[in-house]
Amino acid sequence: MITFFKGEKVDETENDLSLDMENIPKHIAIIMDGNGRWAKKRKLPRTMGHKAGVETIRRILKEADKLGIKYMTLYAFSTENWKRPKEEVGALMKLLVQYLRQEINELHKNGVKINVLGDISMLPEECIIEIEKAKEKTNLNTGITMNIALNYGGRDEIIRGIKLLVEDAKNEKINLSDINEHMFENYLYTKGIPDPDIIIRPSGEQRLSNFLLWQCAYSEFWYSDICWPDFKEKDLHQAIYDFQHRDRRFGGIKK
Ligand code: FPP
Repeated sequence: MITFFKGEKVDETENDLSLDMENIPKHIAIIMDGNGRWAKKRKLPRTMGHKAGVETIRRILKEADKLGIKYMTLYAFSTENWKRPKEEVGALMKLLVQYLRQEINELHKNGVKINVLGDISMLPEECIIEIEKAKEKTNLNTGITMNIALNYGGRDEIIRGIKLLVEDAKNEKINLSDINEHMFENYLYTKGIPDPDIIIRPSGEQRLSNFLLWQCAYSEFWYSDICWPDFKEKDLHQAIYDFQHRDRRFGGIKK
């Protein structure tokens, strides 16, 4: 049984943690790792692992929304994932299309706003169409924002931002003296989105893999050995609980 400070009780999770509802992270970012290993362990094709991973997205998004998290960013396809076999890339794209087609009405009904980080122009046309439709339909929603990172790379994002900024400087829209950290954020895919409070990476790997390089300057990292398809609501609660017990100083000192 989870006891929230505001007196709410949620008993769908197995652990017994007290979450401070006044200190719920605004933004959680997840590297959905371990789908392949999950499938291999069960002697299934890797794509079955990704399919199971989509089920986890459904559950965790719902739980994150219920907890009052405002942004959830999911690393779905990196700029480096093109190196995977053509069949796996194709299966991932199909899963995305299926997910958007099947879920969009429900997501919209629940006030979820869909947003994409990354250069989607390289994706198959049917993906682009479904993404654009989903973004347009949910654009005015005020519930949780689901950022899907697709053909996303942190370095690529920064280089793209620099190019846009230089373009603006060449066109005399900005001066050199205008450039600072805060204004540069307007040139990133995450413009207007607060930095992630926590980066979650399941499956036992402990690296960032080119995810949100700029934005995670002061994010808390949370790792677990569970593969993404096995990631449960209670694991999200555990990550939040641990986050709430970290000492975030942002380079300062404890008061
Ligand atoms: C990492 O596991 C996972 C991915 C590269 C893809 C994640 C994508 C999805 C779950 C589907 C995307 C769809 C939507 C709806 C957003 P891995 O394959 O690297 O696992 P491994 O390290 O065990 O091989």
